[in-house]
Amino acid sequence: MANTLTIPSNSPNIAILGAGAIGQLMYHQLCHSDSALPGNDTALIGRQPHTQQQQLQFTDHSGLTHSSDALILGTNDPRLAEVSLLLVCVKAYQVATALLPLLNKLSPLCHIVLLHNGLGPHLVVAEALAPHPSQGLTLGTTSQAALKISQWHIKHTGFGVTQLGYYCGSELSAGLKARMDGLHRDNQALEWHQPVLAVLWQKLAINAVINPLTALHHCANGQLANDEYWLQIAAIIEELVHVAKCDGIELDPVLISARVYQVIKLTAANYSSMYQDVAHHRATEINYINGYICQQAQLHRLAVPHNQQLLEQVLQLNPS
Ligand code: PAF
Repeated sequence: MANTLTIPSNSPNIAILGAGAIGQLMYHQLCHSDSALPGNDTALIGRQPHTQQQQLQFTDHSGLTHSSDALILGTNDPRLAEVSLLLVCVKAYQVATALLPLLNKLSPLCHIVLLHNGLGPHLVVAEALAPHPSQGLTLGTTSQAALKISQWHIKHTGFGVTQLGYYCGSELSAGLKARMDGLHRDNQALEWHQPVLAVLWQKLAINAVINPLTALHHCANGQLANDEYWLQIAAIIEELVHVAKCDGIELDPVLISARVYQVIKLTAANYSSMYQDVAHHRATEINYINGYICQQAQLHRLAVPHNQQLLEQVLQLNPS
């Protein structure tokens, strides 16, 4: 006898894969946006096969703590097939293992958004989606920051821009785009870019400078404004701009440098995600940041000694 699965009611329209600090931040922002529908159309996807209900806490920028009940969809929940928009908020090195096994459980019309530091996973995901052109892929990056106080309690610690843009497959529908615009709240910018890769390379430059240097020198982001780092920062950016050019992306080194120093200043008191990963003995995203620059450089037969050295030094601190 055939085993038919019935889809339980209250199926979420939007799901967030990855319940880390950024995943939970996106969840709270989407649930409380002006474009949110009455009732909750957003869920998180957990690591377990079974679904659970979980109370979440969110401490906003003014220090107020809000509680909400969230649906944490299990990886075997048939409601995955009802999700129209999947926001992937896991670390770069987790994208393939977390997302690829879910692809055949999703609707053929589901649109996927990758939101992580670094570059590289988009190539693997685009290849996996190629036989399913009705699904689509949007890429993005956020400079917002959140801190995990406990597993289900996060604090919003930093404002920043979220940049998104279509990459391949079917385009994001106007309705879902409007829903994503709900991330633009509390005066935080949400920008759509076409083509998107140039802004992702710009963000890659920010991460290629700040993340390894703060991890290696055990310092807050602001210390990198000191003169002693100037030459090394200029060399990292020069190599990146050269590799990007060979990849078909034109970047202005003066503007990139200005943007890197602006972020160093704006986040002066913050400890970068890589600093924190190393401090907590977690894997880092180095292979997708300076490692991606080295990988693309190799394809174009370019030497990138400064990025190569940072890659090797960070891998020595903490194999990833
Ligand atoms: O990875 C990080 O920590 C952040 O992307 C940034 C912008 C470097 C600020 O710390």
